[in-house]
Amino acid sequence: MKNIIVTGGAGFIGSNFVHWVVENRPGVHVTVLDKLTYAGNLENLAGVPDDRMDFVRGDICDAGLVDGLFAGADAVVHFAAESHNDNSIADPAPFVRTNVEGTFTLLEAARRHDVRFHHISTDEVYGDLALDDPARFTEETPYRPSSPYSSTKASSDLLVRAWVRTYGVRATISNCSNNYGPRQHIEKFIPRQITNVLCGIRPKLYGDGRNVRDWIHTEDHSSAVWAILEGGRIGETYLIGADGERSNIDVLRAILAEMGKAPDDFDWVRDRPGHDRRYAIDPTKLRRELGWRPAHVDFASGLRDTIAWYRDNRPWWEGAKEATEAKYAKQGQ
Ligand code: NAD
Ligand code: DAU
Repeated sequence: MKNIIVTGGAGFIGSNFVHWVVENRPGVHVTVLDKLTYAGNLENLAGVPDDRMDFVRGDICDAGLVDGLFAGADAVVHFAAESHNDNSIADPAPFVRTNVEGTFTLLEAARRHDVRFHHISTDEVYGDLALDDPARFTEETPYRPSSPYSSTKASSDLLVRAWVRTYGVRATISNCSNNYGPRQHIEKFIPRQITNVLCGIRPKLYGDGRNVRDWIHTEDHSSAVWAILEGGRIGETYLIGADGERSNIDVLRAILAEMGKAPDDFDWVRDRPGHDRRYAIDPTKLRRELGWRPAHVDFASGLRDTIAWYRDNRPWWEGAKEATEAKYAKQGQ
């Protein structure tokens, strides 16, 4: 694999993946295809040498553009998406367009050019688990998405599966749990709370704060995706997770403690409609078949580094803070 296309490579996880490839796979050239929506930022790719990457600003729904790019590619890793649940509740239309129509457009080009395709998806396609249920999601768990966001991701997964079976497209799918780390948009839970504290705004917790998410460092997501791209079996789905289950209130209190605030220095706010209770990944298949292991097993230290990143990179997020908080305030959150 010499030439790969990374869609959504200017976003949070996509850009971390590009940096991972550039650092760990010296013979690989990356072409990033990204529309630069509110969530995309060219700054995320700063430091990537010119001879290792081309950047193309464009829409994954643009069939002509996509077709031209796929002609010279060995593989495509598809991260581009509308990714935020709260936004999907306020306005689902861009989610259907980018996540469903965009994935369809890419699959058609992959079919025409016989390009290896890896589709990035989410554990949210499986719905949620009860807090007192010892079960975790596996590759066999039935799809039961709850939100407009997760239903469009589930739709895109089903398109990939159909294109494999019907047209023989050489595709794999991964469904990962909640990522954290540098360069995550400040609308998301962890960076929102960190930047709130840095701005003197009280952090905001939805509902009763007991919802559980299964946290993984974004670098571990990147190494898992590469392992699947190289060694995954065509047509297969792999769940990616790092045994990181934590309640939202525990994560928030860890941020508050690390930033020198009192444990109750936050506001309870309106719950998210349809809020999934708990996500949990069983990553046995990925570990057994591909020998993958996470490197970031100490959440406290990963969180400390993430807080330091937002403290040290204020110009990266400051411009978006007021508008992000105004949007939440309108929703009572
Ligand atoms: P993000 O919102 O930070 O980035 C999305 C990127 O896609 C942005 O750069 C944006 O400009 C680009 N984009 C959006 N619409 C586009 C279009 N029509 N054409 C081209 N580019 C477009 O998202 P993220 O959190 O980095 O998530 C990346 C992928 O990983 C998504 O597919 C998401 O569903 C999946 N995922 C995310 C998480 C998580 O915790 N954030 C967990 C599991 C899976
Ligand atoms: O599980 C994978 C998914 O994780 C990805 O597919 C999504 O793209 C990604 O955004 C993430 O979805 P969540 O909805 O779990 O992440 P979010 O950061 O929006 O919220 C995490 C939890 O924190 C969730 O239970 C809602 C809660 N929350 C969120 C915000 C923004 C709060 O309590 N307060 C907040 O201010």
